Amino acid sequence: MKIAVSGKGGVGKSTITALIIQVLKEKGRKVLAIDADPSPHLARLLGFPEADEIRPIAEMTELLQERSQRNGPFYKLNPGVDDLPEKFMRRRDGINLMVVGSIQQGGAGCACADNAVLRSLLNALLLSPDEDIVLDMEAGVEHLGRGTIASVDHLLVVVQPYRGSLETARKIQRLAGDLGLSHLDLVANQVHGQEDIDYIVENLGMEPVGIFPVSPKVKKAERKGIPVGDVSGDLREAARNMLTALGKKDEQD
Ligand SMILES: Nc1ncnc2c1ncn2[C@@H]1O[C@H](COP(=O)(O)OP(=O)(O)OP(=O)(O)O)[C@@H](O)[C@H]1O
Ligand SMILES: [Mg+2]
Repeated sequence: MKIAVSGKGGVGKSTITALIIQVLKEKGRKVLAIDADPSPHLARLLGFPEADEIRPIAEMTELLQERSQRNGPFYKLNPGVDDLPEKFMRRRDGINLMVVGSIQQGGAGCACADNAVLRSLLNALLLSPDEDIVLDMEAGVEHLGRGTIASVDHLLVVVQPYRGSLETARKIQRLAGDLGLSHLDLVANQVHGQEDIDYIVENLGMEPVGIFPVSPKVKKAERKGIPVGDVSGDLREAARNMLTALGKKDEQD
């Protein structure tokens, strides 16, 4: 199963990505985790001991320059990236992790050329046939290119029961509609009760495929650098239920 996790900044994308990865691992699946956030911290959430030393590909300026063959305004649209997964993949406990990161506009150099390399890399990674893939995306929607989301089985949009988060979710819904994608699902996070779920359904016209309660244990896990699913049975159970629901959806298709 290939899952991309999107949503407004701070709604819980990385937390839910880490939970999904833990549950897939517990099921004995081979998992490839891709961190495409501009400030990646999935490695920490998954308990990789060397988390703080991992440099995202997006920050390897020389490599990006070499691969994009940037020359003034010209650059390669399909840069060679096939060797990069082997070189930069981290492995721990049955999880493969690729920290791609993301280019922020307005920095030095040509963001388009650098982005072309990252896009090629993401698309190459997403083609991996014999692994489950979970992609932690950056906040917002602008980066959601057709290539990336078309090759995932489920585009999850994490929402919290407040207006700003629903607004971003609506934008993602529209964009997915424009791209002709039908495999978008809502995930409700930091839910206090049925009233919160009703609020989301009323506003977005869809039932969430996963419901994650607020858990005070998340903070503890984060501060101690322990995978969140190890300290919160509730959240782990929520992730299990969500994956079961997604599996059922796949069977119906
Ligand atoms: N269910 C939850 N209960 C309690 N705290 C949570 C829950 N989900 C997420 N959090 C907390 O909310 C904060 C934001 O979560 P997280 O980093 O996963 O969001 P994000 O969407 O990945 O953010 P960003 O857009 O910055 O990448 C974190 O401090 C996290 O510990
Ligand atoms: Mg995040």
